[in-house]
Amino acid sequence: MSIHIGAKPGDIAETVLMPGDPYRARWAAETYLDNPRLVNEVRGMLGYTGTWKGNPVTIHGSGMGMPSLSIYANELIRDYGAKTLIRIGSCGGMQTHVSIRDVIVAMTASSISTPSRGIFKEFNFAPPADWTLLRNAVAAAEAKGAPVHVGGIYSADVFYDERPDLNEQMTRHGILGVEMEAAELYNLAARHGIRALCVLTVSDHLITHEALPSEDRERSFGDMVEIALDAAFP
Ligand code: HPA
Repeated sequence: MSIHIGAKPGDIAETVLMPGDPYRARWAAETYLDNPRLVNEVRGMLGYTGTWKGNPVTIHGSGMGMPSLSIYANELIRDYGAKTLIRIGSCGGMQTHVSIRDVIVAMTASSISTPSRGIFKEFNFAPPADWTLLRNAVAAAEAKGAPVHVGGIYSADVFYDERPDLNEQMTRHGILGVEMEAAELYNLAARHGIRALCVLTVSDHLITHEALPSEDRERSFGDMVEIALDAAFP
């Protein structure tokens, strides 16, 4: 057990998919994994381990925002030996050529601040995705015929942003979408020498103000789970 994860040693696979929502972790595990079993439910942050095409996989919630993701990712890496972490989540579209339901594979994640700010201070570390995972995810999305964009995203500290000017600058600089977790995931992967990737579905749009109807969310989310699994085990 670690401080926030009740799993026993050996209960967590080396490959972990991390949706923000713990109920999505349960849904994805029950839908895609063989023999999924609950390995964590501390504070309701559900984690399941099973197999996919014979490969051990854990699907564990991250919670919303970088401080929450940082707790779970740190413990999965340091206490349970996770070697590949793939965030699967939703984001707000920030370009007109990026549509609702499209998939974004995040090559980089920009931020104002992350929980790693204490280390980097004024230095703007630019954490990238793992190249092999990224290449595999793009190939998997293309094979499914899912519209996919590859590029930079923005990991915000706040959902209810009081700085619309900053979002405008992100759009102006080609940022594809905004979410709230990837930059710290990529920082942690760099620090601990593991592989990380963030795959996102566009669930709402900051320019067009469209939003994905809730009944469509599950299907789009399912595509993303498959893309993430194919990326880890091509
Ligand atoms: N902002 C931040 N995070 C998000 C958004 C958004 O518009 N949509 C989904 N995650």
